Order: sequence, then structure tokens, then C-alpha cells
Amino acid sequence: MLVYIIFLSLIFLISIYFLKLLNSPVKKIKPWRLNNYQIKVLKAFSGTLLAELNDVEIESLLKTKTKIPIDPEKIREFGKFDLSKQDEFIELLINNLNMVLPEKSLSQLSKILTLFTIRPISFLLTGHMSPFYELSRKDREIVMQKWSKSYSIFRSLFKTFSRIILYTFWASENCIFNSTIGYPGPDPRINSRLYTDNLSKFPIYDFIQVPPEGLELQFDVVVVGSGAGGGVIAAQLAKAGYKVLVIEKGKYYHQSELTLTQLDSIVKLYEQGGMLASEGNTMRLLAGSTFGGGTTINGAVSFKLPNVVREEWASEGLDYFTTKEFDNSMDAVTERMGVSTKAIVHDEKNKIFIEGCKRLNYHYADAPQNTAGAEHQCGWCLFGCRYGEKQGSLMTWLKDARDSGAKFVQDCYVKKVLIKNKKAVGVEAIVGSDERKLIVYSKKVIVSCGSIHSPALLKRSGLKNKNVGKNLFLHPGMCISGTFPDKEIKSYYGTIVSSYSDIYYDVFEKTRGQHYGAKIQLAPLHPSYGATTIPWRSGLNHKQRMLQLNYHVPLLIIGRDKYSGSIDVDGDGKPRIHYTISNYDSRNITEGLISGVNILVAAGAKSIAVGFSELDEFVPTEDDPLQDPKLKSFIENIRKIGTKNCYIGSGHQMGTCRMGKDSSTSVVNPRGKTWEIDNLYVADASVLPSSLGVNPMITICSVAYSIANFIIQDDQRTGNI
Ligand SMILES: Cc1cc2nc3c(=O)[nH]c(=O)nc-3n(C[C@H](O)[C@H](O)[C@H](O)COP(=O)(O)OP(=O)(O)OC[C@H]3O[C@@H](n4cnc5c(N)ncnc54)[C@H](O)[C@@H]3O)c2cc1C
Ligand SMILES: *[C@@H]1O[C@H](CO)[C@@H](O)[C@H](O)[C@H]1NC(C)=O
Ligand SMILES: *[C@@H]1O[C@H](CO)[C@@H](O)[C@H](O)[C@H]1NC(C)=O
Ligand SMILES: *[C@@H]1O[C@H](CO)[C@@H](O)[C@H](O)[C@H]1NC(C)=O
Repeated sequence: MLVYIIFLSLIFLISIYFLKLLNSPVKKIKPWRLNNYQIKVLKAFSGTLLAELNDVEIESLLKTKTKIPIDPEKIREFGKFDLSKQDEFIELLINNLNMVLPEKSLSQLSKILTLFTIRPISFLLTGHMSPFYELSRKDREIVMQKWSKSYSIFRSLFKTFSRIILYTFWASENCIFNSTIGYPGPDPRINSRLYTDNLSKFPIYDFIQVPPEGLELQFDVVVVGSGAGGGVIAAQLAKAGYKVLVIEKGKYYHQSELTLTQLDSIVKLYEQGGMLASEGNTMRLLAGSTFGGGTTINGAVSFKLPNVVREEWASEGLDYFTTKEFDNSMDAVTERMGVSTKAIVHDEKNKIFIEGCKRLNYHYADAPQNTAGAEHQCGWCLFGCRYGEKQGSLMTWLKDARDSGAKFVQDCYVKKVLIKNKKAVGVEAIVGSDERKLIVYSKKVIVSCGSIHSPALLKRSGLKNKNVGKNLFLHPGMCISGTFPDKEIKSYYGTIVSSYSDIYYDVFEKTRGQHYGAKIQLAPLHPSYGATTIPWRSGLNHKQRMLQLNYHVPLLIIGRDKYSGSIDVDGDGKPRIHYTISNYDSRNITEGLISGVNILVAAGAKSIAVGFSELDEFVPTEDDPLQDPKLKSFIENIRKIGTKNCYIGSGHQMGTCRMGKDSSTSVVNPRGKTWEIDNLYVADASVLPSSLGVNPMITICSVAYSIANFIIQDDQRTGNI
């Protein structure tokens, strides 16, 4: 008992220390450097996660089942590999973190690394008197395993280190084990006719150059952000005759510049180089930050907004969403973006998934794609569409905007909206790393920065409405994966998501009428995703899983969240993300996850891993695995543990500048204008009043399309145009 109390008090003290760390102000620390002791700690973590295995472990590793045999010499070399001995890796890791993480996160990391060099604190964290880097590999492994199953800061430390190290290692350009695990690196068709014959597909854009002394410009409308919302509204307003400027903080990459390698692509195309996380690391977030925003790197799944959600919004006073007019918006959007199911070809992973659903009599269906009739069998499309098939904003709306005279600036971060007498009159921005100044005066400002940045921009601009940043919905998602060692799956070939199951969102829910369940879809496991979506369990287990990368069928369980988190800004005006999954949502996602486990079992998976550090992989042994009592207890354990502390991520951020009919509960009115400031609109995922339960791109585009119509109608009525 006494030990327990001491332990709790220590945790309390450490937590206080961490809270202090999180809130302490940050001086300029870039370039980020580490001292020798900090580097030792980082190396010790690296050498625990990717550890030199002993002879017994290597014997087990050699027994890893794969349909295409792997050269035993290569397996031994992989087994012996110790990441802590790779000086170049540590250098690469530091450089990469330097490039993608904000100073605040880097400074926190430095401090955490220092804690491990202070003996008494290191003792509290590890239970050993010697510093972490002096422990044997087995001791370090046990420490990390304990953290992975513990609560609060320990689990958060585990998630942080396992993510940054394993992700960077498996994504990196000089990862020497691609061939061992059978990963081809970039798509082998990268320079084939599929590319050369389609090379002219990407539109070319002229970007306004901003000179060192800065620039001032004048437009009718400034659109901040070029993603799903920004692209559509820029196109529609430009077509209606407005002089439009689109500002994007990311950059445009032509197809010929897309390397389809992991690290390079993710650093260039994703928000915070793919390393974005919520405070306390409760959630990992992916979002596009490039010309075209999320639509440039997304999975091409193109659902319309379901009727139940339309009716829900209408019942809250947003009658528009059940009108024919909104139908027309959705039709116009799906038409322009070439949405259909006609050209779908199911790849191996989708086929296995469908097979599992069929055996269980679960719902499954084809997932519509925005590929304008192309088969689009390209799992590398999350790194940009090299073959010019996916009809994202860059291929469609931004091109329409360009053809109607819109202008563009890239690599340009909007700091704030200029406001005079409660009216938006333009924006202030900086361009490039040398921060050249751009001021744009305009009659209207449209904020389309996505659900993380739009509320941050409004807050930086001085908006006081307390709903700004509230209602952050994330569609919390979990990966589970089934291994089929006798089927070569290579989940990164073929269509990313060509099928899905609504078993939990729709079919069960129809009887219960709530629609807060989960959808089940698929995912391409490139090594960096494969290494980080299912938790690391041990040095041996990690290497076994990676050897079987080509034999995994990864399912993505995407929940419709009823309860929300929030965005606020730190002292530098940068967004901070707060999200803890509620018990209600956790329970529902858990049920979706269990359906996913059943699908994999029914499809014949030889083992199933879920995002729970607490649970080992489930290995069916009975002739009828669905009747296996071990499956029942596995599922019971999943229910018991719940998803609260597991590996959860989000690619769908929504709701932080909510649309509503009442200014006390929303940020923008039913026509997309902020309640607080005239001529200031928001048009992106952040205006969605609630979570959707379907992949959001088409809904976002349709809402932006509608807001463009409202602006045009209102201006015509008042004679402003
Ligand atoms: C890996 C992945 C896969 C996905 N797959 C699918 C899918 O298959 N189907 C689907 O429907 N949805 C999918 N999504 C989600 C979908 O892409 C997003 O929901 C959608 O793009 C969001 O649209 P948006 O307009 O709100 O913001 P975004 O498309 O994210 O655009 C916002 C843009 O604003 C820019 N910006 C932000 N702040 C500033 C600033 N201050 N100054 C200048 N520019 C700024 C950003 O760089 C970004 O480019 C996926 C997302 C991810 C990450
Ligand atoms: C391994 O694959 C990555 C792509 O993710 C690539 O950048 C790298 O060059 C490959 N490494 C080798 C040695 O082929
Ligand atoms: C792209 O190239 C392929 C291979 O040459 C060709 O079959 C296909 O029609 C092209 N795609 C489109 C959309 O034109
Ligand atoms: C979601 O959770 C709530 C509360 O636990 C429950 O009432 C509802 O039926 C759940 N939905 C599903 C699909 O189980």
C-alpha cells in the first residue's frame, strides 16, 4: 500500500513537471541540437525498438512464415541489426525532426531526453538506478513494454518515441531493409507508360512571386487554403466574375516532381511532415498541406452526405441541407470530380475483405472513387497522384479557377485577417522561409485552412466568438491487421479503398437509430505505416511483423464521433489540438473494431493484431475459428480495455468553425459568413456542424459549393456585383 502511495505521488510530481514543460515559453532553438547525453538516450530508444536479437530470437525470426521465402542470410542480418549503432540514422532523425516539428515540440523533446540523464528522475521513469542508456537491451525492452501498457505520461512517452523512431527509420531514403521485407520502394511503374502517357494531365499554374521587399495586392476575394473547400469556392467565385486570389502555405508539385518515396513525400505534402499529434499524444493526425490540400494526398473515397446526417442538421435549424438545392450541389461536385464506382477493380486486400464480409453476411459495398473513370490502382497515391488520375482540387477546381482568371500564391502562410470596423478588408501573410511580407486587400476573405488551421487563423485575427475552435470532430480511426502468410497481398498495390462495410454505422444502427457506429475500410501499409499503426510489442515481434508486411490485410475502423475536442492557440498563435475520445465513442468504435476482427477471422487470417499494447495477437487454431473460445475471450478483452488509450489516428478533421442558426452555438451563419465579422466567410471541413460518419471530401466540397452560391446570390440581391 505504502509503495503504491509513494508511486502515485511520484507520478503526480512527474506529471506536474511535464505540465510545466508543456507550458514553458520557447526561445528560438532552431536548428535543434542535442548534447552527447541526449543523443545517447535517443540511441538507446532506437536500439530497443529495432534491437539486436539474440540467437534464440533469431531462430524464431527465421521461422516467420511468408509465401515467397526470404533468404535466411537476409533474415539473420535483419535480426542482428541494431539501430542504436547507426550514427547516420540518428543524424537523419534529428535533421528530420528539425525540419518538421515546431520549436515548441523540439524543446519539449530535448527536455524529456534530459530527464533520462538525471539519475533520480530516470529512476522514477524506469525503475533502474543506472541511466536508461546503460541498461541492457532486455531491461530497456521491459521498461518500454511497461510504458506501453501504462497510463498517462508513460504511455505518451512510449507513443512519442516509438512513432518518431520507427516511422523515420522505415520511411527513410536509406532504409536498407526494403528488399528484405519485399517492399519495392517507390511504385515500380513510376516511369512506365502509365506515367509518360499521362504526363500532361497535371495543370500548370503560375504563382505570383513575392520580392524580398514584400508586395501589396488588391483582389475582390482572397481564399486562404487550396484544399477541398478552398478549391471549390475559388472556382465558383472566379467563374462568377470575381477577381480571386488563392493563398496556400504548402507548395505545388507537378507529377514529375512526385518521388513516391515515403519520407520525402510525407515531409513535402503533409501537415507537420506527418508528425502532427494532439496534446498528450492521444491522437495522431494526418492532413495534407500542399497545393490542393488533403485532396492531393487522400484515398479518393467519394461518398455523398448520408440522409440521416442531412436530416439531423435540418432538425437543428439548417433546413438547407434537406433541400433539392443541396442535392444539386452534391451532384455538381461529384460530376466535376468524376466520381463513380464503374472502373473499380478490387485488389487482393479488398477481395479478402469482401470474402470475410460475405461469410458473415455483413454489409459490404463498392466505395465510389473520384478518378474520372480511371481504374486507379495505385496505393502510392497517398504521396500524390503521379499518374494524374485522382480528380482532387488541383486537377479540377483550381484549374477552373485558373481558367477564369484566378491568381495563386504558394509557400505563403496567412498570419491574420485584416479587420476594420468589424469588416474583413484583406489578409497579412509571409512568404517562404525568409518571411517576405505579403499584404492583400480584398472585399471578402474566405478562410479554407482546414479544421485545424481555420480556427487558429480566426483566433489570431482577434475573433472573440467562444465557439471558434470548439466542436473538433476527428472520426477516430484504428488500424487492425490480419496476416495471411500464404497469400501475397502487398496492400500498397492496387486501389487504396475500393470497398467498405457499414455494418456498425448503418446496418446495426438502423434498428437503434443513432448512427454513431464505425465504418470499416482498408488501408495501404507502406512500411512506415505498417511499423506505427500497430504498436511495437518487442524487438522480436516488431521484426516478425515487418517481415510479414506483404501478407497483411489492414482494416481501418473509422468511427463517427458524437463528442468533440477543441483547438486553441499557443503563445505563437499556432494551433494546439485537444482531443480525448469519449466513453460513448470509444464503446462504439470498439464494436466496429470487433466486427473488423470477425471479418478478418472469417476471411481466414492466421493472426490478428489490434492497436492495443495490452493484447497479444490473436492466433486462431480451431477448424472453425469463428467458434474458437479464444476468439470470444480476445473480443471480451477488447471490450474490457476499450479504445481510450490505444493507437488512434485521424485523417478527417471537422467542425471547429461550426455552421449554425444561432451565434451562441456556432461560428458561421447558415450562409457561411462569420457571425462576428462582415465579409469574412469560412468554407471547409470546419463549418460542418457535426461528424459525418462518411469520408468527408465530397461533403466539404458540396458545402463550399453552396456557400459560393450564397455569396453570389447575396451580392446579386444587394447589387454588390
Ligand atoms: C491520408 C488521408 C487520406 C484521406 N482520404 C480521404 C478519402 O479517401 N476520402 C475523403 O472523402 N476524405 C479523405 N481524407 C480527408 C480529406 O482529404 C479532408 O477531409 C479534406 O481535404 C479537408 O478539406 P479542407 O478544405 O477542410 O482542408 P484541406 O484540404 O486540408 O486544405 C486546407 C489547406 O489550407 C492550407 N493552410 C492552412 N493554414 C493556412 C494558412 N494559415 N495560410 C495558408 N494556407 C493555409 C493547408 O496547407 C491546406 O493545404 C483523407 C485525408 C488524409 C490526410
Ligand atoms: C526504400 O524505400 C524508400 C521509399 O519509401 C526509398 O526512399 C528508398 O530509397 C528505398 N531504399 C533503398 C535502399 O532502396
Ligand atoms: C494513362 O496511360 C495509360 C497507359 O498508357 C493509358 O491506358 C490510359 O488511358 C491513360 N489514362 C488516361 C486517363 O488517359
Ligand atoms: C453507441 O453507444 C451508445 C452508448 O453506449 C449506444 O447506445 C449505441 O447503441 C451505440 N451504437 C452502437 C452502434 O452500438
